[in-house]
Amino acid sequence: MRKKIVAGNWKMNTTPVEGVELAKNVVAGRGEVCSCVDFIVCPPFTHLSEVVKVTRGSGIAVGAQNCAAEAKGAYTGEVSAQMIASLGVEYVILGHSERREYYGETSKTLNAKMEQAYANGLTPIYCVGEKLDEREAGKHFDVVKAQLEEVVYNLTEEQFAKLVVAYEPVWAIGTGKTATAEQAQEIHAFIREVLRARFGAKADDTAILYGGSCKPSNAAEIFAKADVDGGLIGGAALKAEDFLAIGKGFSK
Ligand code: PGA
Repeated sequence: MRKKIVAGNWKMNTTPVEGVELAKNVVAGRGEVCSCVDFIVCPPFTHLSEVVKVTRGSGIAVGAQNCAAEAKGAYTGEVSAQMIASLGVEYVILGHSERREYYGETSKTLNAKMEQAYANGLTPIYCVGEKLDEREAGKHFDVVKAQLEEVVYNLTEEQFAKLVVAYEPVWAIGTGKTATAEQAQEIHAFIREVLRARFGAKADDTAILYGGSCKPSNAAEIFAKADVDGGLIGGAALKAEDFLAIGKGFSK
């Protein structure tokens, strides 16, 4: 049985006080959603420590949104996987399209970040997804395949067993435009095929999340698809009520 996961990517939103409040509200409403759904909240670095404290024992895990590619040293402004893990954080989002686009993250950087994450016991949520022009040109399968082959194919089987993948079409992120449930299923099934080609049947256990304008009104339809195992939620994760409502969208 694959995990069902709803992860909230808060991006660069909320002050620490607001973030703790949001996390507390998620904790308060957690009981209304099936315990079969794993919730993860990913606040900015500055709130990680406090959010770990308020979510402890609640069944809500905490993730970071990034980590450094190096272990330690003279890398001004960077935050290492070890620092993050030492706070009690369990997950780290890697390869988000905003990191690829605005901060020049390449597969080379991401391989190093994945290594750091695993070396420190963090579970990566590895993001893939095509841009609008790539989809329009029919290149989305090739783009996503390359993003998987260049990074995920380098993992050991043991590392792969822990991996979470998120498919986020760039054209759907923060735009209000969502992939249709059929589009999501088509590419999620493709992603699983690509993973199967390298890791065999183990790919059947990998949680593949959909991300991109996912909200309470469309989550149920998307999550009902066979190869969609949950969501990576941006905007709608900033309201506890909406975030939790998305978790209620599982019918399988
Ligand atoms: P969105 O963001 O839900 O606001 O579209 C999703 C993401 O970028 O993870």
